[in-house]
Amino acid sequence: MSDFGYLDEKSTYFDSACQSLRPQPVIDALNEYYMEYNSCGERVKYEWGRKVDDKVAESRQAVLDLLKLNGKHYFVSFTLNTTYGLNLLLSQLNLPVDKVITSEIEHNSVFLSTIEFAKKHDIERVVLERQDDGSIDLDYDFARSLVVMNTSSNVDGRELKNIKELVKKVKKSGGFVIIDAAQTLGSNYELLQKIQADAICSSAHKMYSASLGIMVVRKDLLPYVETDFVGGGMVSSVTKDSYTLLGSDHAHAIFEPGLQAWGEIIALKTAINWLQKAKKTSRVNEFAGEIYDFLQKQPGVKVLNKAAAPVISFSHESLGGHSIAKALSDEGIMVRSGYFCAHYYLKEKLDLPHQVRISIGLHNTEADITKLKNVLERIFN
Ligand SMILES: Cc1ncc(COP(=O)(O)O)c(C=O)c1O
Repeated sequence: MSDFGYLDEKSTYFDSACQSLRPQPVIDALNEYYMEYNSCGERVKYEWGRKVDDKVAESRQAVLDLLKLNGKHYFVSFTLNTTYGLNLLLSQLNLPVDKVITSEIEHNSVFLSTIEFAKKHDIERVVLERQDDGSIDLDYDFARSLVVMNTSSNVDGRELKNIKELVKKVKKSGGFVIIDAAQTLGSNYELLQKIQADAICSSAHKMYSASLGIMVVRKDLLPYVETDFVGGGMVSSVTKDSYTLLGSDHAHAIFEPGLQAWGEIIALKTAINWLQKAKKTSRVNEFAGEIYDFLQKQPGVKVLNKAAAPVISFSHESLGGHSIAKALSDEGIMVRSGYFCAHYYLKEKLDLPHQVRISIGLHNTEADITKLKNVLERIFN
């Protein structure tokens, strides 16, 4: 795709689950900010700053539009990444709950932060199994619980297929839901549209944008936030020993202490527009099916996935994961190897060896898939 024309022919990138490549228009938007109106936002009155304010507001709105959520009920804050967003929320929330519930296929960002949440509030922590299609058994008693869960796994691409029913059930029983959408916004944002969760955390760098964390938060969660991570840009007044936070018309500021990554925030709107267009001609699912079928047929290969997905992990009975990744790298093919920050599920629960992970992005071409299959065949033989 010409938007990735800067890639040299030898570099074949299959690590989009970590960071997707940035299309040229996103890089251009970032450069334009740095070269034409490099100013801080939401503070200054000069022209550059006013332009930043307008564009930052447009990016917040673009996130809400992508998710089909109403600004009356939700606001968007920006932070470093998904991990930071989840921790900002979980470390400052004081909720009327008796347990925190997560699932077995979580990234460490959810797995560890829910351990800390349970410890801090001295409540039970429950780790539920995910079904083969990624959904959760709704027979569980979700009363007075906080559910923190991903909508797409970074090890086998399983999606939380019944998220709509899950959120409805948890909310109806007086609970709360925080979604880790790190792997979802870049591949299947449709799954999250109109979902009335309490918060959604994600990473712009996994959705073709510059490095940035996204938090989408329900306004009625605010009374439960005990703000203690504080600084500039979030107060209306300060006395010798106290301060008053900005009001609900600046709700996003509560999670944005200090100066923000203005250029990266602005580039996000360009990335969202690009993603929506690029998805219309996407071959990612077709390529996923091709790689999945190929791997299934290779002697000695054990595929982790139950079905094809943009993220596919596998191991080999005699070749280590890191050795396979290094051999691929010698041919210019970039994949990941190891446990991908899902140590509990892969290492502790399934007792698996290091995996190799192929993650497909919108920049990948048929030629990339053919090259990957040819080189893997040589490595396996
Ligand atoms: C499912 C999932 N959740 C959370 C994260 C954490 O994202 P970040 O490292 O951008 O905070 C990742 C990163 O790979 C992920 O795949």
